[in-house]
Amino acid sequence: MVGSGLMGAGIAEVSARSGLDVVVSEVSEQAAEAGRARITKSLDRAVGRGKLAEADRDAALGRLRFTTELAELADRQLVIEAIAENEQLKTGVFAELDRVLTDPDAILASNTSSIPIAKLAAATSRPAQVIGVHFFNPVPVLKLVELVPSLVTSEETVRRAAEFATDGLGKQTIRAQDRSGFVVNALLVPYLLSAVRMFESGVAAAEDIDNGMVLGCAHPMGPLALADLVGLDTLKAIADSMYGEYKEQLYAAPPLLQRMVDAGHYGKKSGRGFYEYS
Ligand code: CAA
Repeated sequence: MVGSGLMGAGIAEVSARSGLDVVVSEVSEQAAEAGRARITKSLDRAVGRGKLAEADRDAALGRLRFTTELAELADRQLVIEAIAENEQLKTGVFAELDRVLTDPDAILASNTSSIPIAKLAAATSRPAQVIGVHFFNPVPVLKLVELVPSLVTSEETVRRAAEFATDGLGKQTIRAQDRSGFVVNALLVPYLLSAVRMFESGVAAAEDIDNGMVLGCAHPMGPLALADLVGLDTLKAIADSMYGEYKEQLYAAPPLLQRMVDAGHYGKKSGRGFYEYS
């Protein structure tokens, strides 16, 4: 794994719980410690709920190693990048991974929601082995992985990535073209942005908007709570990418979302978004 934020930690946890040997690369000791704490907390929660034996938690933790050197991923067969939704940062990581990975068959995957896989592939000397593998938050709970081959990804890479997600992690896959947002976010993000616009224009209180969709449409959570869970900074970054790709108003981040991100209100992860979290 490259990155152990919300998504990276989830993917690393599920991989280690599935018996895989995982190395997690982070930018600093502090970020690595935060990643380890995130994973430990989630595993402890599973133990607390009786879903995981203590010995299995310890075994999963034993299969996870943290590093601040990307070069320590050299012997990996599969690397999944899950850093911030920023094209320049991601292409930098892909170029560096391409230099350090020694296995010529290694797959370079990205958990991006909206950045073209073709652009990440172009930063490497092995574009046929670059693919999008997009997980959903919370990763231990949600079954889906979107597989996103670019125009130059080989079918062998798609097959191996699918095998990793299904046989390896017990997930289910769908396949989508390399278009910003793929299937799920192309449908979900306009819905979340509409809820922000509705709140901003004063049509209803946040709780009423959310209760509307929970009680009226049986969604597990309302759109503003879900925006907080995804992270408002991440939601804005995804919306910006999709707007850049399609130039359609329905993907434009509303001013309130932009101001909340400017103010550091990122949602659940920062303690404040449309709701407050302790
Ligand atoms: N880690 C592990 N397990 C978790 C968890 C977490 N972070 N959060 C919840 N769970 C588990 C609980 O342990 C519980 O399992 P059991 O019933 O087997 O004990 C189950 O999920 C339900 O949890 P809770 O009772 O605590 O809470 P809930 O019923 O309100 O569910 C939720 C919480 C799972 C988050 C649910 O509300 C949900 O699925 N919401 C929708 C999430 C969603 O739409 N995610 C997609 C976001 S889009 C995305 O990720 C992609 C992108 O690019 C933006």
